[in-house]
Amino acid sequence: MSDLGGQIALITGAGGTLGSSHARAIAAKGAHVIVHDIDEGAAQSVVENILEGAQGSASPMVCDITNGSAVKAEVSKAVNDHGEITILINNAGITGNNALLKDIDEAFFDRMFDIHVKGAFFAIQSVIGGMKSVGRGRIVNTISGRAHSGAVSGSHYNGAKGAIVGLTRALATEFAPFGITVNAIAPGVTPSGMTRARLGEDGLAARAKQLVSDRLPTPEEITSGVMFFLAEEAAIVTGRVLNMQQPRKAEVV
Ligand SMILES: NC(=O)c1ccc[n+]([C@@H]2O[C@H](COP(=O)([O-])OP(=O)(O)OC[C@H]3O[C@@H](n4cnc5c(N)ncnc54)[C@H](O)[C@@H]3O)[C@@H](O)[C@H]2O)c1
Repeated sequence: MSDLGGQIALITGAGGTLGSSHARAIAAKGAHVIVHDIDEGAAQSVVENILEGAQGSASPMVCDITNGSAVKAEVSKAVNDHGEITILINNAGITGNNALLKDIDEAFFDRMFDIHVKGAFFAIQSVIGGMKSVGRGRIVNTISGRAHSGAVSGSHYNGAKGAIVGLTRALATEFAPFGITVNAIAPGVTPSGMTRARLGEDGLAARAKQLVSDRLPTPEEITSGVMFFLAEEAAIVTGRVLNMQQPRKAEVV
């Protein structure tokens, strides 16, 4: 993996499980990491963890990703303090809570699209001018295996993640002339705050038994997909989705 020294990376929702793993890995490669979250304590503790382990340099950013003007203001403060952001990982998210269509009211539907789709849109709008000015940028969005597959519940979550695929492909084309790539990872179920709330420990264990590896991935294994898109050698890879879902045993013939 390439050295990311001298770069500034913004990771949204980095107080959570996958985001904090991405933050640690990117900081360890030399970038200054801006650990964003709506939860100030969670963001601060990830920053402290990176600084204490001397695994790199990091600072917190706290705002609701659905508040476009707050995101722009926080990004502009961070750029003043640290320099242009050249790596953006859109990761903040919430669970669809296994809700059936009849149980998804308009507020829950809007919240789902606001956090996942508008949140990514606001973050990209806030950093893109800086990326264009320095002629480089890597944007990695987070979708889900659920954007590709059916599910008995959580259609608002699947729909929002599918919308991010469209956003990724369109912006990859728009920004290619500026040396900026836009890609997405689709993690499979990984133990985290979100999946524990949705499936519980028993549900996670049952899911593990269905997979060819007999286990769920670690956050670090999902982070490897992000790191692939950040590599210098991946400069021509854009508009792609890396599906990190493992096959289920029944799918193997
Ligand atoms: N864990 C999985 O199995 C899995 C699978 C597929 C996709 N994903 C996606 O990966 C991403 C990270 O999920 P995770 O599993 O680490 O969950 P997590 O709950 O551990 O982390 C999500 C983080 O996003 C933050 N967040 C939520 N709403 C926010 C808002 N409005 N503004 C700012 N921050 C906000 C939360 O505070 C939390 O720290 C999400 O986009 C999720 O949809 C996760």
